[in-house]
Parts: sequence; C-alpha cells; structure tokens
Amino acid sequence: MRCFMVQLKLWLILGLLLSVVVTTKASVSDDGYERCELTVKKWASSSIDSEVKENKNTLHDLLFFLHVPRTGGRTYFHCFLKKLYANFEECPRSYDKLRFNPRKTKCHLLSTHDDYSMMSKLPKEITSVMTILRNPIDRVFSTYEFSVEVAARFLVHPNLTSVARASRMAQRVRRKASVSTLDIWPWKYLVPWMREDLFARRDTRKLRGQSQLVTNNSYDMEDMLMPLHDYINDPIARDIVHNGATFQIAGLTNNSYFVESHKVRHCVLKYQNLGEYVLEVAKKRLDDMLYVGLTENHKESATIFANVVGAQVISQHTISSSSGDVASNNVSEQRTRVPDTKSDARAQGNKTEDSSTVNDAAARGNLTTEKLIEAYETCIASLRSTQAERRVNSLKEISPANFTKEARLHVPEVLIQEITSLNRLDVELYKYAQQIFTKQQTHMTQNDYAERANNTLSYPDYYTSPPSWRFMSLAMTGLALLFILFFVNVRRRTSKVKL
Ligand SMILES: *[C@@H]1O[C@H](CO)[C@@H](O)[C@H](O)[C@H]1NC(C)=O
Ligand SMILES: *[C@@H]1O[C@H](CO)[C@@H](O)[C@H](O)[C@H]1NC(C)=O
Ligand SMILES: *[C@@H]1O[C@H](CO)[C@@H](O)[C@H](O)[C@H]1NC(C)=O
Ligand SMILES: *[C@@H]1O[C@H](CO)[C@@H](O)[C@H](O)[C@H]1NC(C)=O
Ligand SMILES: *[C@@H]1O[C@H](CO)[C@@H](O)[C@H](O)[C@H]1NC(C)=O
Ligand SMILES: *[C@@H]1O[C@H](CO)[C@@H](O)[C@H](O)[C@H]1NC(C)=O
Ligand SMILES: *[C@@H]1O[C@H](CO)[C@@H](O)[C@H](O)[C@H]1NC(C)=O
Ligand SMILES: *[C@@H]1O[C@H](CO)[C@@H](O)[C@H](O)[C@H]1NC(C)=O
Repeated sequence: MRCFMVQLKLWLILGLLLSVVVTTKASVSDDGYERCELTVKKWASSSIDSEVKENKNTLHDLLFFLHVPRTGGRTYFHCFLKKLYANFEECPRSYDKLRFNPRKTKCHLLSTHDDYSMMSKLPKEITSVMTILRNPIDRVFSTYEFSVEVAARFLVHPNLTSVARASRMAQRVRRKASVSTLDIWPWKYLVPWMREDLFARRDTRKLRGQSQLVTNNSYDMEDMLMPLHDYINDPIARDIVHNGATFQIAGLTNNSYFVESHKVRHCVLKYQNLGEYVLEVAKKRLDDMLYVGLTENHKESATIFANVVGAQVISQHTISSSSGDVASNNVSEQRTRVPDTKSDARAQGNKTEDSSTVNDAAARGNLTTEKLIEAYETCIASLRSTQAERRVNSLKEISPANFTKEARLHVPEVLIQEITSLNRLDVELYKYAQQIFTKQQTHMTQNDYAERANNTLSYPDYYTSPPSWRFMSLAMTGLALLFILFFVNVRRRTSKVKL
C-alpha cells in the first residue's frame, strides 16, 4: 500500500515536471508570435488616428491619389485628375520615390503607387486621400496578365537573351518616357522577374525544337510562360501581389518608407491571424478618405468622383480667384491662380508622356462637372483603345497564349479558391469598400447641398489672404444651383452614356 502511494507521488511529481517542461518549451516557441503580436498591436494603435475626421468630405489643399495597381487608376489620373490640375500643380516625381519636400513645393496633386506611409512626408492636416479598389481576384489576374504583357514586349528582339541587353532596352524605353512602368513599384520587380522567365522558356523551346503545346489554357501554358498557379505561389507574389490593396492602404508594402513597417509586415506574413490588425487600420483609413471608387462600378464611380472631387476642385479655383480678387480689390486681377497655367504647362510639357492633356487643364477656368464628365468619356475611350492595341501587340509575342474573358473561364475553380484564400484581407477590405461606396452614393443623391455649402465655407483657404465670406457665400449659392442643375442633367445622361 505505502509502496503504491510512493509510486503515485513519484508519478505526480514526474507529471508536474513534465508539464513544466512542456509549458516552458511552448512559451519559448511562442516567443516569436508574442513579440510579433506586440509589434503589430503597437503599430496598429499608433496608426489609427483616434480623432474623428469631421471634414473628410472636404477637399483639402493637397489631393493624394493612392493608386493601387491594376484598379484602373491610370484612367482616373489621365482622364480626370490631369484635366482638373495643371502640370505645375502636380507634385514632382509622382509614381516614384519622392525626393522633394511637398511642404515646400506647394503642389496640389500627388498620384502614386507608393503606399500610405507616404503620408508621413505630406502635410497631413491639409491632405485629402482618395483611392480605387477592385475585386481582389480580378486584381490578381490583371496583375499577372500585365506582368506578362509588359515582359513580352522584350521578346520582339529575337536575339535578346542576356540580362544586359534587356536592361539596355529598358533604358531606351525609359529615355522615351520620363516615368516608365519599369521604374515603378511593383512593376520594377514583377516585370524583370517575368521577363527572365519568358526568356528562359523561349531558350528551352529552342533547344528542344518544335514541341507540341499540350494545353490551350493560356493561364497554364508551361512551354510559353509561367503558369498562373506558379505565379501566385512564388515568394515574389507573396511579397508584393497578395493582399496588396490592404498592405498599400495600411502603409505596409515592401516599398514602405518606415523601417518599422517592414518588421510589422514580416510578422503579418508569418502569422496570418495578425492580419486582422492590418485590416482594421486599412478600413479606418478608407473611412477617412475623401473618395473611394470601385473598378467594377465604373460608371457610378466616375459620377461620384466628378461630383465629390471634381466639383470641389473646380469650386476651389473659383473661390481662390474670387477671394484673391476681393482681397486686392481689383477686378482685373481675377483668376490669380489660373493665368500662367498655359505657359507653365508648356514649360513642363516634355515631362509627361501625355502632353495632349496639357491644354485641357489650362481650360479649366471654364470647367464644370458636366464638362468634366464629357471630357472624361472622350479621354477614356481613346485611352482604352490605345491600351488594347498595345496589349494585342505584346501578346502576339507569346501567341497562342492570349488573355481573354473566355480564357479566364477555363481556369479551374481550385485555383480561384487558392487566390481567394491568399487574398483574405483584400477580400474583406473590398467588402468594406463596397459598403463605403453605397454610403457615398446615398450621400450624393441625398442632395445635401446645404451641408456641403457649410463644409466648404468652413474650409480655410490656403492660397490667399483672408477670404471674404460674403463673396464666398455668394459663390456657394451659385455652386449649389449648379449642382442641382448638373444633377438633373447627369441623371438623364448617365442612363444614355456608355462609359
Ligand atoms: C540572331 O542570331 C542569329 C544566330 O545566332 C543570327 O543569324 C541572326 O542574324 C541574329 N539576328 C539579329 C537580329 O541579330
Ligand atoms: C520587395 O519585394 C521584392 C520581390 O520579392 C524584393 O526583390 C525586394 O527586395 C523587396 N524589397 C524590400 C525592401 O524588401
Ligand atoms: C488693378 O490691377 C491693374 C493691373 O494689375 C493695375 O494696372 C491697376 O492699377 C489696379 N487697380 C487698382 C485699383 O488697384
Ligand atoms: C521639349 O522637347 C523638344 C524636343 O523633344 C525640345 O526641342 C524642347 O526644347 C523641349 N522643351 C522643353 C521646355 O524642355
Ligand atoms: C470658356 O471656354 C470657351 C471655349 O472653350 C471660350 O470661348 C470662352 O471664352 C471661355 N469662357 C470663359 C469665361 O473663360
Ligand atoms: C487575342 O484575343 C483578342 C480578342 O479576342 C484578339 O483580338 C487577338 O487577335 C488575339 N491575339 C492573338 C495573338 O491571338
Ligand atoms: C481548349 O480546347 C478544348 C477542346 O479542344 C475546348 O473545349 C476549349 O474551349 C478550349 N479552351 C480554350 C480556352 O480555347
Ligand atoms: C449651416 O451653418 C449654419 C450657421 O453656422 C447653421 O445654422 C446651419 O444649421 C448649418 N446647416 C447645416 C445643414 O449644417
């Protein structure tokens, strides 16, 4: 009996010891997680602005277009923003790491693929942010297709195989356009990666001689190009493609300005559940944005943009010129901000690829939201046909691979599921953006002009000396009238017009 008790005690002690060992071991291996959780939590709480942005619907001095790749942001940039802002109002080196101090240069438009960490370089209190989101599955497809499309352009030269030659060609491309796709994150990683892969596969084909393509699925043509399933599972895609929208809005891309961001980013990639913190930050940022568009709801997005952003840019031009006028009490000095547009634009005309928009911006002293939408429609039609033509030409190089709607239908469901789960955060963020979008629509259609007028009135004028309230309220009344007129018109029009 005693013997049994002793044995029992021994077992108990042993068990206790064992459990101690197990728990300490567990806490040691959990250490990475715990430290990561702490890091991410700390980042999240410091990233969320606790104060509610009351005037988020008001356009501020600087408009920051956070351009998530493959959302159609380029058409917004060329067909909307370039028509609203003159070249000289654009911050230098958009779509590149900035090497200027925006506080000094007094620019008013910044459009870039750089992530939200860019805000640390901007005068936060007078910056409005806008973005466009897209269904993440389509965004991944589009990213893949565009990587291939741009990379395939390098195949035109039959003997272009070495990296050195490719980079020489890239330099030639760069010289033509001041800002090339090849300089811009994320393409500066995605394109060379795909290009080297295309070259390698071409060489293999050559060595093997004429070979039969076993599949006609363009997303799985191993002989020609990297299949989609390989693409999405590559570490590079994990680094910069998946959940790209969430990371970009959170300021956590691998292109971020903060050293801190990279730590947070690695933790989130390592421990998936920490992604929740990132998602919350991104949602909050969307809440505070002036405008959130959706690629899928293209037509409605454009209408809201013209009314929310476009109308305010136009009214600011009006206000700043009128108050400048009143301040100097000299009628002939009207349009103080606009007059040099043409010559300024001309002086910088060589800077951009698209010089045809230069004069559009110059004419905006005259612009109305209605005209803006008209101009947008014309612009987008021509831009799209140029892009389509370019695409067909590039894809010829990897024929018979061709990315068509029809081809997408042949992608197996398993692969779609895989993309969905790899982009869990983006899927959530997109759902949230859809809610915001609905709110924006209601807000716009509620015809809340009185409130809007109040908002704009309380908006401090950063350009000029003290504004004349009397004059501004007059201007606002006029504007409200214009809004109403415009509304009636747009309603009639959007049903007819095909964007
Ligand atoms: C490409 O290389 C082949 C031989 O390797 C040569 O015969 C041909 O002329 C070259 N073509 C060009 C365009 O350089
Ligand atoms: C960003 O990702 C690319 C592709 O994976 C990689 O080559 C590059 O080094 C990364 N940059 C940073 C700062 O981590
Ligand atoms: C108004 O401006 C014009 C030219 O800028 C100047 O010639 C004129 O004297 C000014 N008039 C007043 C009343 O300041
Ligand atoms: C624009 O480019 C043309 C030729 O490409 C050149 O002659 C002209 O001087 C340039 N203008 C400016 C302002 O750089
Ligand atoms: C508006 O633009 C038209 C041509 O686009 C021009 O003829 C007219 O003078 C402009 N009006 C004002 C007030 O600038
Ligand atoms: C790819 O498809 C498009 C649209 O269906 C077509 O216009 C184009 O010619 C095709 N390209 C090739 C290389 O087959
Ligand atoms: C591939 O070939 C099959 C059978 O030949 C056909 O049913 C299918 O539509 C083709 N897929 C594409 C993307 O052309
Ligand atoms: C606009 O401002 C005035 C005065 O500040 C206030 O009385 C009015 O209620 C405001 N209107 C709205 C819709 O906020």
